[in-house]
Amino acid sequence: FSKDPFSASKEIAKEIAELIRDKQAQNKPCVLGLATGNSPIELYSELVRLHKYEGLSFKNVISFNLDEYYPIQPDSEQSFYQFMNMYLFDHIDMLPENHHIPDGCLAKDAIDDYCTDYETKIEALCGIDLQILGIGANGHIGFNESGSREDSKTRWVALDDITIKEASPYFSGIEHTPKAAITLGVQKIMEAKRVILMAWGHKKAEIISAAIEGKVTKNVPPSYLQKHHNVTFVLDHASSAKLT
Ligand code: F6R
Repeated sequence: FSKDPFSASKEIAKEIAELIRDKQAQNKPCVLGLATGNSPIELYSELVRLHKYEGLSFKNVISFNLDEYYPIQPDSEQSFYQFMNMYLFDHIDMLPENHHIPDGCLAKDAIDDYCTDYETKIEALCGIDLQILGIGANGHIGFNESGSREDSKTRWVALDDITIKEASPYFSGIEHTPKAAITLGVQKIMEAKRVILMAWGHKKAEIISAAIEGKVTKNVPPSYLQKHHNVTFVLDHASSAKLT
């Protein structure tokens, strides 16, 4: 457990930088699974700093974002597409063709094939090397809401009422908030070679305790991570307050 999100994020960025450089030395791509939301903002800002001032290149990085609202246009300011540009992609040297973010404006009947293809692309790269996760206070990872199976695939999902409510201030009201999303499934998250879940603040304390110390259940998808062989929960004092 780290004292504050700022120094914890720096440590995670350091690990990511080492992985990227390691892969560069082997002439291999580095496949990162990325999250949006408040939790990784400091991490992205540190990665940008490492790029600008410490020569870290992202040319060999291929990223797959966890999720995107549906429906949403990529140029909409609340889209995760804009989020990633604003906090990371606009400031580093990743090749745009190496960014993957689920498409929030597909025709409904194109979604299934699109999701299968998203997973095929990940598989073709031998899976995700390092997956960054946040956690919803209601227990989602990506937008795998409570009830998501451990073998769930990348798919269209209806969002939880709580998730919609929490997002609604950003969309100026519930009526303008998307009620669905496309999310990477739990299965691909579990297959990632390394998983780092970040959680800050007292609002996450209850779910962190359920995820780490509760039983493994589909009602709490992050509890599946108890079975992952290489996962770290990075927490601050507040989010770890309910652990025994
Ligand atoms: C976002 C995502 C979500 C968030 C979660 C926590 O891509 O996958 O699961 O990680 O909603 O959000 P924050 O970090 O804003 O508390």
